[in-house]
Amino acid sequence: MAALAVVGSQWGDEGKGKIIDYLAKKADMVVRGQGGSNAGHTVVIGGRKYALHLIPSGVMNEGTVNIIGNGVVFDAEGFFEEIAALEKDGIKTDNIFVSDRAHLVFPYHKLLDALSEDARGDRDLGTTRKGIGPAYMDKIERSGLRVCDMLDAESFREKLQAQIDAKNRVIEGIFGAPPADKAKIVADFLAYAERLRPYVRDTGVMVDAAIKAGKNVLFEGAQGSMLDIDLGTYPYVTSSHPISGGFTTGAGVGAGAIREVVGVTKAYTTRVGKGPFVTELDNELGARIRELGHEYGATTGRPRRCGWFDGVVLRYSARVNGTTGLALMLLDVLGDFDELKLCHGYARGGKTISDFPASLDALAAYSPLYLTLPGWKCDISGCRDFDALPAAARDYVKAVEEIAGVPVKIVSVGPDREQTIIREEVF
Ligand code: GDP
Ligand code: IMO
Ligand code: MG
Repeated sequence: MAALAVVGSQWGDEGKGKIIDYLAKKADMVVRGQGGSNAGHTVVIGGRKYALHLIPSGVMNEGTVNIIGNGVVFDAEGFFEEIAALEKDGIKTDNIFVSDRAHLVFPYHKLLDALSEDARGDRDLGTTRKGIGPAYMDKIERSGLRVCDMLDAESFREKLQAQIDAKNRVIEGIFGAPPADKAKIVADFLAYAERLRPYVRDTGVMVDAAIKAGKNVLFEGAQGSMLDIDLGTYPYVTSSHPISGGFTTGAGVGAGAIREVVGVTKAYTTRVGKGPFVTELDNELGARIRELGHEYGATTGRPRRCGWFDGVVLRYSARVNGTTGLALMLLDVLGDFDELKLCHGYARGGKTISDFPASLDALAAYSPLYLTLPGWKCDISGCRDFDALPAAARDYVKAVEEIAGVPVKIVSVGPDREQTIIREEVF
């Protein structure tokens, strides 16, 4: 069996899309198990950039089966927009399957996401406003509609109408906002239901069969471990489980199915949306990283907050994921700095901690402890093997593995598929 999970080690946008596309050339199947169209996974092939949201990043590899698993909240509107964009670019989309158990995101979820965020004022979470939280709320509250509900038009119409009536009572009564357009939503979703029919499968059966047949199955994480609803920086998190454990419920596989867990990490740290971030550089240095790394969200276009590498986050993330190897991304972005800092612990007064605390108030009292290393001051984006990197860059990679306690198996030196250094095969 060769099942590999690729997860975000930080707060998302670590470069998962790039590395999944790279590894997908060897994958028979790529499986998403959580999140929805809040994800923005960038794949660059021969200088051409593609942004994927719901569709797995294996889609660029012909022959790879792409699964949207039961744990994903499925935005039908976004899905067909993505399919159209891929087809326009000549990419085949006949190898994509959607779980009949996936919950549906409706326009009223997006509206409620926006209304809740606006109502929070300064205490907003900075969500992507893609309806993720409200859709998972319905799932957990047991009132959500699933892809399988779409397959019987008459009962789907009735269930959807009842849902829209219920949501409009909240939208109008609590938020004082104009109601969602019932007739339009029903008509649009009955049309999506017909178009979706050929994509729908019991995907858990497909994943199980692939694993049992010894095929290479790659589980594609969305978001990042620090955005996990249980283990992240709550409440500044998403509403699903981006950690490796999320695939057992999100794809319907047993806990023992995943053999290797690759934690994707930036060589520095970014975060988009609100919430604490100990190594943040809210200054000129952070702005320089943002410009050099083109750190603007693939889904919302928002500028990402930037800071130094945080080893406390990485160690925590490695523990909760069972990470067996790291993919260290965007190392090339650091080629312009005289010196570089890596956080290895947090300090408060004379006390230091090396585990990530639960309480954000407690976290706010800590400041980072740094190891300072010299920069390499050159362009490394053309390097294709580890030994070709300047000594200072190799030392930086070694410091990351020492602080994180996990070997760096892949180093990425540019956004393109080809700008990848494999130190140890993961598949
Ligand atoms: P994801 O959500 O984890 O898939 O990451 P995003 O696609 O949202 O953000 C990562 C960004 O970094 C994208 O613009 C990628 O094209 C880019 N990227 C990925 N790896 C590298 C790298 O090694 N170097 C540089 N310069 N850019 C990279
Ligand atoms: P990928 O897969 C980075 C963040 C949002 C916000 C919080 C909650 O591209 O790494 P949500 O819309 O999920 O309710 O927002 O989570 N967030 C992401 N940040 N990358 C992502 O996905 C994200 N998906 C959600 O900015 O802080
Ligand atoms: Mg992203």
